[in-house]
Amino acid sequence: KPSPAAAPERLPFSRVTQEDLVFFRKILPGRTITDPDLLESSNVDWLKTVRGSSELLLRPQTTEEVSQVLSYCNSRNLAVNPQGGNTGLVGGSVPVYDEIILSTALMNNILTFDSISGILTCQAGCVLENLSLYLEERDYIMPLDLGAKGSCQIGGNVATNAGGLRLLRYGSLHGTVLGLEVVLADGRVLDCLAALRKDNTGYDLKQLFIGSEGTLGVITAVSVLCPRKPKSVNVVFLGCETFEQLLRTFQLCKGMLGEILSAFEFLDSECMRLLNTHLKLSNPISECPFYVVIETSGSDPTHDGEKLHNFLEEAMTSSLVTDGTVATEESKIKTLWSMRERVTEALTHDGFTYKYDISLPVEQIYQLVTDMRQHLGDRARSVVGYGHVGDGNLHLNITSPAKDPSLLAAIEPFIYEWTASCQGSISAEHGLGLKKRNYIYYSKPSQAVALMGNIKAMLDPKGILNPYKTLPDNIK
Ligand code: FAD
Ligand code: MLT
Ligand code: ZN
Repeated sequence: KPSPAAAPERLPFSRVTQEDLVFFRKILPGRTITDPDLLESSNVDWLKTVRGSSELLLRPQTTEEVSQVLSYCNSRNLAVNPQGGNTGLVGGSVPVYDEIILSTALMNNILTFDSISGILTCQAGCVLENLSLYLEERDYIMPLDLGAKGSCQIGGNVATNAGGLRLLRYGSLHGTVLGLEVVLADGRVLDCLAALRKDNTGYDLKQLFIGSEGTLGVITAVSVLCPRKPKSVNVVFLGCETFEQLLRTFQLCKGMLGEILSAFEFLDSECMRLLNTHLKLSNPISECPFYVVIETSGSDPTHDGEKLHNFLEEAMTSSLVTDGTVATEESKIKTLWSMRERVTEALTHDGFTYKYDISLPVEQIYQLVTDMRQHLGDRARSVVGYGHVGDGNLHLNITSPAKDPSLLAAIEPFIYEWTASCQGSISAEHGLGLKKRNYIYYSKPSQAVALMGNIKAMLDPKGILNPYKTLPDNIK
């Protein structure tokens, strides 16, 4: 019986012919790539666990070019894999078979920025970090931040509805994205690129594309509401003896830091071991079972410093935390953040990584790690827990020396059953892509999945956009 995570048979899409190449070369001269060496990195995902065999990479620069490509592919029944920075973690960003890779990498122009409203409008291929640098010079920041910022693109962020490290403060992209321009499967351009805070004229169509993982349309431009750059930022790195104490620290923190709290993240001692071993990052405090990264951002350094001081004093005197260090200066802030942001990278050095991204009621998030350790015994090399505590989002990762089907069979569906028993979500922020799509029913009722299927059929009747992704094989 094939694993639910396996790819289905290749669907009967056309194969790229010489005439097709002549057409693409005419509209994208020098940007129609067929050299296998140049295609290699676009065929493999960031985790190096999924590999496609596309023989064609297209690099449009304009919406009009994307429209021409899709209109042609739709009429020829050619499958297309939209690709941004290729940092996705669920196998959604690379082809499964020979789908044409449509990269937004050259669509990297900032279109407008309004320094009064803070609304930025840009092409989808802008790299997140470049947008952040552009905005910081203008006293603004992006409402999202993630470890992949140096490579991921805003179009990919929107397509995955990426969460990241600032969601606790600024909310999800469903709130901060004000407008989108999307090219539909048949090449029609849907211009919903409004730059308005409020707009209740009918259904909010852009929401459909946020988190649609390239299956409903290609996002070509985004307008996003950006917060002011905070005048004062502090980061603290704390150690807790138990997860219970960590949660009480979170409660205390919400109460005492209130409006200046901008992140509350955690990692366990197993993550710290991997950071030490594989990246030679040293623990900034003494050894503890759990570590917390708290960030505050506000407009008044004195006020923020005072609040933080009072919180730390209370956390220490009530023995919620056993050790800690504070950073106000940029280089130390970066060093402390890297202890959290670089866990993903450390894991890749530990072995083949089985990656899970679960939403749970916050008080249950670490129990899953404990139960998984017990369940797997010595079958796994490492079982680690980290994530966005403030959002009830656990990253549970398991490594083994090499890909191990028997280990996978021990993890799944155990992890999904456990999650469903707590009414959690099997994908909090990474999406379903190729790897998780057939587990969708653990988190969504069949009526909802059927409606998703109807929407897909309406917007992409031939199913050319990112086939084999997001939706399950058999819609009940
Ligand atoms: P890709 O990986 O290229 O594509 C992702 C999906 O979006 C694919 O299905 C693709 O087809 C589709 N897509 C891409 N661009 C478009 C477009 N223009 N139009 C339509 N569809 C498109 N994710 C989080 O949510 N939070 C995190 O904190 C986080 N941290 C990460 C840290 C590291 C080190 C890494 C490697 C990844 C992390 N991720 C995180 C996952 C990943 O970075 C995000 O999912 C990111 O939003 C993907 O952007 P991308 O440009 O790389 O998209
Ligand atoms: C994170 O929060 O670090 C990212 O989502 C990446 C990961 O899950 O490893
Ligand atoms: Zn995350």
